[in-house]
Amino acid sequence: MAEARYTTNNVGIPVASDDHSLTAGPNGPILLQDHYLIEKNAQFNRERVPERVVHAKGGGAFGFFEVTEDVSQYTKAAVFQPGTRTESLVRFSTVAGELGSPDTWRDPRGFAIKFYTSEGNYDIVGNNTPIFFIRDPIKFPDFIRSQKRRADNHLRDHDMQWDFWTLQPESAHQVTWLMGDRGLPRTWRHQNGYGSHTFLWENAGGEKFWVKYHFKTDQGIEYLTQSEADQLAGQDADYHIRDLFNSIKAGEHPSWTLYVQVMPYEDAADYRFNPFDLTKVWPHGDYPLIKVGRMVLDRNPDNYFAQIEQSAFEPTNLVPGIGPSPDKMLLGRMFSYPDAHRYRIGANYAQLPVNQPKAPVNSYSKDGAMRYSNPGDPVYAPNSFGGAHASAAVAGETAAGFGVRDEIVRSAYQLHSEDDDFGQPGTLVREVLNDDQRARLVGNIVGHLSNGVSKPILERALQYWRNVDKGLGDKVAESFES
Ligand code: NDP
Ligand code: HEM
Repeated sequence: MAEARYTTNNVGIPVASDDHSLTAGPNGPILLQDHYLIEKNAQFNRERVPERVVHAKGGGAFGFFEVTEDVSQYTKAAVFQPGTRTESLVRFSTVAGELGSPDTWRDPRGFAIKFYTSEGNYDIVGNNTPIFFIRDPIKFPDFIRSQKRRADNHLRDHDMQWDFWTLQPESAHQVTWLMGDRGLPRTWRHQNGYGSHTFLWENAGGEKFWVKYHFKTDQGIEYLTQSEADQLAGQDADYHIRDLFNSIKAGEHPSWTLYVQVMPYEDAADYRFNPFDLTKVWPHGDYPLIKVGRMVLDRNPDNYFAQIEQSAFEPTNLVPGIGPSPDKMLLGRMFSYPDAHRYRIGANYAQLPVNQPKAPVNSYSKDGAMRYSNPGDPVYAPNSFGGAHASAAVAGETAAGFGVRDEIVRSAYQLHSEDDDFGQPGTLVREVLNDDQRARLVGNIVGHLSNGVSKPILERALQYWRNVDKGLGDKVAESFES
């Protein structure tokens, strides 16, 4: 028989009752000396940390990534060397909904991966889509506000969503994708993950390559229809969290195969699309997928708050052999995430077990709220007392030449020969989707536009879809113009 355990307060002092406060007589007032009553309620008042400003609703699991092929000719990163197996964490999420919002609202899904590598944590903070709505981080707060809630009545509002989208035609590729089947994955297991941005890889010989990551689901792509998703939103708001948790618990461990597209460094200058523009893909025909390895999720969290809610992913976490590209969105994100974590979790978020690396930490950061271990003396560098010293050779920092001899400007990207906002979404509609998928796309767009979109914005939206594809736009328009 298990030994009886007695309730204590937070510092281990036994408490007398789980049921009754200390009072002056059974009907008398509560006494201030009931420190347990006060501790219990004060702690309760402080249970929440702020939810993520985006991607608030999510779930995740632990597992591993193993390299099955040899891509060492492209990168020296330890995590991608042949045969390497690395413990990993993945958090899936929706973007615009709050912490309790339904998992099955139409939205891109976050697909954030933390690799606990021997060279420190490497994070790929991606989505289930290879592209995004905008290409300059200065627009991100505006974009997100248009998807969230109005200032006056706290309601979500399709009018402001379509207002923003149609005023920013660079959104067309991502909105086309979102309104299609992949905008409603059946489960998190049945979707792909993409790093979306272009990253820089460097091999041991110093050669550099541009790469894009594609995590393809081994479970196959499956989607929900709009009506299935609407029904599920009412029946089980946590449908996707539950599916992942129950699958892993039942021993069905979802996996994804990682492929990369690799572009020789010099190709970037005159490739037909600007290779750093996040609203564009690199067609597979130009840069075919190269297999790297397999990611498996096989362990559920046992403490959701500590391991998932307080997990902190950041595009800044890049390891030797991997660097940022000149994608403006990626560079903007490199500020946002560590800043968000300091605000949401606290200055010492990296010390929480889920965020701690498996590699040794020899940083000179110290103290601050909730700090529980410090590196000790010496507390400064350089020093004469055997403290850690930085080494460019060990860091092997991978950086691109950004053409920084240019003038300082506020400008759109320089256009490459085939750059425009509607070309790639048009290809998606005409060449990738079949008739059934196109019909569902039209239905989803019409459904979305029928929900509170005002006349002038609707007219702009119909033109937006005609710009993507004349036939598609005409079909959408039929529902409003007849
Ligand atoms: P391909 O024919 O080689 O690739 C088309 C890709 O589209 C597929 O491999 C698949 O990506 C993806 N796809 C299939 N069905 C859907 C769907 N219903 N909704 C969204 N994506 C779908 O052509 P290209 O590489 O030349 O790309 C053509 C268009 O395909 C692009 O303009 C883009 O819109 C879309 N696409 C391209 C991707 C790329 O990285 N090249 C990735 C995803 C979409 P996957 O294999 O990743 O499942
Ligand atoms: C979460 C900012 C674009 C994927 C977040 C958070 C912020 C943010 C502040 C909350 C972080 C937290 O509190 O933990 C931005 C900015 C962007 C941008 C400023 C553009 C300039 C993108 C893009 C992707 C993406 C392009 C995918 C390719 C994610 C994911 C999360 C997230 C997956 C949730 C991570 C988790 O599970 O904890 N973003 N974001 N974001 N973002 Fe972005």
